[in-house]
Amino acid sequence: MTLCEIINVDINIAMAISSRGLITMPVFTFQGAKKIVFGEEAVTKLADEIRALGGKKVLMVFDQALKRAGVAQQVMAPLDAHGIPYAVYDQVTPEPEPTLADQGASMAREEKCDLVVGVGGGSSLDVAKAVAMLTINNGKAEDYIGLETVPRQGLPAIMIPTTAGTGSEVTFTAVFTMRKKKEKGGINSRFLYPDLALLAPELTVSLPPHLTATTGMDALTHAIEAFTSLQSNPMSDMVAREAIALIGANLKRAFDNGDDIHARRGMLLGSLMGGLALAGAGVGACHALAYPLGAFFNIPHGLANAVLLPYVMAYNLESTETKYAQVASLMGAEAWGRLHKSSVKAVVDVVRRLSQEIGIPQRLGDLNIPESAIEDMAEMAMTVARPIANNPRKMTKEAAISIYEAAF
Ligand SMILES: [Fe+2]
Repeated sequence: MTLCEIINVDINIAMAISSRGLITMPVFTFQGAKKIVFGEEAVTKLADEIRALGGKKVLMVFDQALKRAGVAQQVMAPLDAHGIPYAVYDQVTPEPEPTLADQGASMAREEKCDLVVGVGGGSSLDVAKAVAMLTINNGKAEDYIGLETVPRQGLPAIMIPTTAGTGSEVTFTAVFTMRKKKEKGGINSRFLYPDLALLAPELTVSLPPHLTATTGMDALTHAIEAFTSLQSNPMSDMVAREAIALIGANLKRAFDNGDDIHARRGMLLGSLMGGLALAGAGVGACHALAYPLGAFFNIPHGLANAVLLPYVMAYNLESTETKYAQVASLMGAEAWGRLHKSSVKAVVDVVRRLSQEIGIPQRLGDLNIPESAIEDMAEMAMTVARPIANNPRKMTKEAAISIYEAAF
């Protein structure tokens, strides 16, 4: 047996142990959007899907940039063609405040809409999910921030992502930023799972390279953090592995040539699976440490994760060697021919190299964040309780400070 084969067997055994019940396994649940439709021109099925959900009048939720890019019109064309009436809420902004969901829900009630379609990146999808919930539950979106605070099912909701990033189309979370309070928080409820995630790769073709890069790194972060989460389970591991391989193979290609539909398809499928993985296993400390960058300095979510990911992975190395070895192999690291230990360490280099190749800044100083903010950022990061608890290596405020310091 060659060295390559020995490492291969080692990784396969590790997968078997983690996936096939050879060790004790706690009860797990796995849930996502109730239905997924994926493929080129899937958007032509929108009218049928709306009717199947009983929708008579739709509230479309998106942002101005999507309208300028002509993507919103692409999605609304089947509604015009099939005579399905709709109203439009197009005031979504990046890192949205919860008041945007309040406005959208008011419009849905005034216009007597009975179904919500969210189109766009994570911000639009999160607002749309909250609008569907609020239209029935009333009150303010901010009142529902927390875990399982929503009393009843909202309007039926269809999510159409136009970035290969957030995975919000299949998760039970809507994240909001409260700028006055300098806080970020999510509505997390079983009633927020969308009824349908409709994914059409051609809708992501117009995404500019820098957004392809940052949203793609967010998707990679979901997959890696879910895969190594203390809540990971055989179902989430299965989709996480596939997501890591798809993103590893396609992110640079999609960044280099946005018109490469094969790369766009691979990325959209990868981000969908990354979203399913995080729905099943949660994310880890990278997300917790990224939140303060958004709340304090308006750094977009994907960019914050992208910069921090290699530093958090370096911290986690000693606690998740077997799974990091798999990540290295899935991302095409030169793991074959390396000893097990060195292939584990190579994973940080592989992620860092990909991030450099797609133009991600490598240091927090590059984002104009002052080093004096570290203490406050670490304090806030530790309040992001579930990702901190999911992290494979115990995270403390001191460790968070050391990771931020390393990233400067
Ligand atoms: Fe994320």
